[in-house]
Amino acid sequence: MSFFSLKSSLLALTAIAGALALKYPDRALFDEHRENVPHPDGLPILGSLLTVSKNKDRYFEFLLEIYEQLDTLTFRSSSLTIQPNFSNYNKSDSFKDTFHNFLGDGIFNTDGENWRLQRRTASQIFHVKNFQTEFSSIFVRHIQVMSGHIFDKAADLSQPIDFHEIMLKFTMDTFVEIAFGVKIDSLLKQVEFAESFDAIQFHNFRSLVFPLHTVTNKIKETLNFKSDKKTIAQHMSIVNAFVYDIIKERRSQPEKTEEAYFKTDLLLRFMKAKNSKGNLYTDEDLRNSILNFIVAGRDTSAQTLSWFFYNVMLYPRIENELLDEIIEFIPDGIENDTVKLYEAIQEMTYSHAVLYEVLRLYPAVPGNRKQALKDDVLPDGTVVYKGDEITFQPFCQGRHEKVWGPDAKEFKPERWISEKGDLIKMDGGKFVAFHAGPRVCLGQNMATLEILIAMVLLLKNYKFRSFPGHKVEFSNQVTLSMKNGMKVYVEKR
Ligand code: HEM
Repeated sequence: MSFFSLKSSLLALTAIAGALALKYPDRALFDEHRENVPHPDGLPILGSLLTVSKNKDRYFEFLLEIYEQLDTLTFRSSSLTIQPNFSNYNKSDSFKDTFHNFLGDGIFNTDGENWRLQRRTASQIFHVKNFQTEFSSIFVRHIQVMSGHIFDKAADLSQPIDFHEIMLKFTMDTFVEIAFGVKIDSLLKQVEFAESFDAIQFHNFRSLVFPLHTVTNKIKETLNFKSDKKTIAQHMSIVNAFVYDIIKERRSQPEKTEEAYFKTDLLLRFMKAKNSKGNLYTDEDLRNSILNFIVAGRDTSAQTLSWFFYNVMLYPRIENELLDEIIEFIPDGIENDTVKLYEAIQEMTYSHAVLYEVLRLYPAVPGNRKQALKDDVLPDGTVVYKGDEITFQPFCQGRHEKVWGPDAKEFKPERWISEKGDLIKMDGGKFVAFHAGPRVCLGQNMATLEILIAMVLLLKNYKFRSFPGHKVEFSNQVTLSMKNGMKVYVEKR
């Protein structure tokens, strides 16, 4: 290239950059300016890329600060919405694209008829009889495994353990059993599937929030090609091999009918159902449906359990009140009669109040991105246009004074209990930990049951003490994880 053509190319580039900087003086390229929608000041063309990347490990706290600084319920494409018209919002294209590799067209990642049919099929297992017997007995059995093999030993040897990691294994074992009818025993041994599943989830969230992550990860993987560290593609192969092996085995045993498996077994339900084209599910459809179910139920429940115990350790007053309720409702040996256990749990108002307070301040799904089907006006007056992507923000919503009043940031289970002593039912627009509207969490009753069964049986038998010097921190992913786990000491009661 001659000096003159180089010079004219540089001049042209500078002119384009200048023009773009004039059009996007405080926001990222292609970010549309909206009249009356506040937004934080950003750099020309880059917008808030640098500040977001600086705050990536405290992403949701950072967002909350913006809401408070701007004194608003909605800014740019982020909203705390009380009673929005949820049926006007589908999953967003960017969410679906990012997660397609992992979740395919499973319930979490699809809309329309495909979504409706999967929701109908999956919902068949969520009925009281299953709660009282099948689910409860799976939960109890795995709690016994973790008590006998992990907590008792840690207590006898006075060794610290990572409570968060154990809860993730506990819920992985329970959900894989419920979803596939398969026992993987990750509480007892290393399971490659579980590790790869986690690695993919982490990668996907980073890619969604920080678009550059996909590129930087690829570069890292290329530079590390000689290391033992698995690439995302390798993790994906491990997950797929695990799931397809199970499906293949099932298909090879058509003579094994319903009675051979748990009544809760989701794979069986989907194998008998039809997809949106009126055909039986292909292996790929089955893989998607089942992985989506594990994504939906496993991390969310484990993290909520971990944040629950984190707060129990933080507030001895709350631990004592929980223990009083456990003494009143949970006699020794009740776990051998899961119907009685289920009924006792339903009576435990204070335990439910603590759980809701945990979910308000530590919602397992801290943000969820949706896309408007039609023009709309949010309850705070913000105008939304068809196709706009908006992230609803349960984490920020749960901690915002405009929504929960001046004590929003305090942990106060009492806010859930009426003067008469009943549990207060918050409306689905204010308390959004389980979402609301047509896509409200399908597993909320199951999650509540699993968490409360684990809580009562663990708290009845053990006292957990935080490990001195270990700081529990958020790890911001699709779900609200703990960055370095939660190291604790266990004592038998
Ligand atoms: C504390 C635990 C849980 C929390 C906080 C939670 C929260 C949520 C939220 C916020 C959504 C909406 C996501 C979105 O549309 O962006 C959701 C959807 C869903 N959840 Fe849960 N969940 C929990 C446990 C479970 C469990 C245990 C299961 C299954 C057994 C489950 C199954 C589902 C399913 C299938 C969906 C998709 C519903 C649909 O799109 O129609 N969840 N959950």
